[in-house]
Amino acid sequence: MEIFESHSIAETEMIAAEIAKKVKNGGFLALYGGMGAGKTAFVRGLVKALCPECLDLVHSPTFAIVNEYRGNDIDVFHFDLYRLTDEDDLYSTGFYDYIEQGGLTITEWTELFEDAIPSDALKLKIEPIDENTRRFTLC
Ligand SMILES: Nc1ncnc2c1ncn2[C@@H]1O[C@H](COP(=O)(O)OP(=O)(O)OP(=O)(O)O)[C@@H](O)[C@H]1O
Ligand SMILES: [Mg+2]
Repeated sequence: MEIFESHSIAETEMIAAEIAKKVKNGGFLALYGGMGAGKTAFVRGLVKALCPECLDLVHSPTFAIVNEYRGNDIDVFHFDLYRLTDEDDLYSTGFYDYIEQGGLTITEWTELFEDAIPSDALKLKIEPIDENTRRFTLC
């Protein structure tokens, strides 16, 4: 288990760049933490580090459900599970196909679909400590 503390969005992006060194092609990173915890901010930092040529701004995929970043070295599939109601819904997004095609899959609101997460997923919990402080726990 590793713990990081951030006091700004910039620091969150630096932590994301550190964690980017630990992820693998074909891997899964499950994010936990409530509304405004900083999940999307973290993903932005991660994509910047893994795939700097992906010029698309990372934004919350809440409406699209999944955003794809096709990098030279790795593809990143960024899911926001918040608006999905059940397993059928999740299946319809192509979630299981994405996982199988390699790349790195990242989920926001993993809490809602805990059973769908691969058993070897890296898990990152984000906790707000105060307005600008976030604690990241990686296991
Ligand atoms: N240290 C920090 N790291 C990241 N975000 C921070 C930090 N301090 C304050 N914030 C603020 O917290 C918010 C994080 O928003 P973000 O969209 O990343 O959250 P989220 O976890 O993706 O929320 P949602 O569940 O709505 O998708 C932003 O308003 C950001 O400015
Ligand atoms: Mg978000």
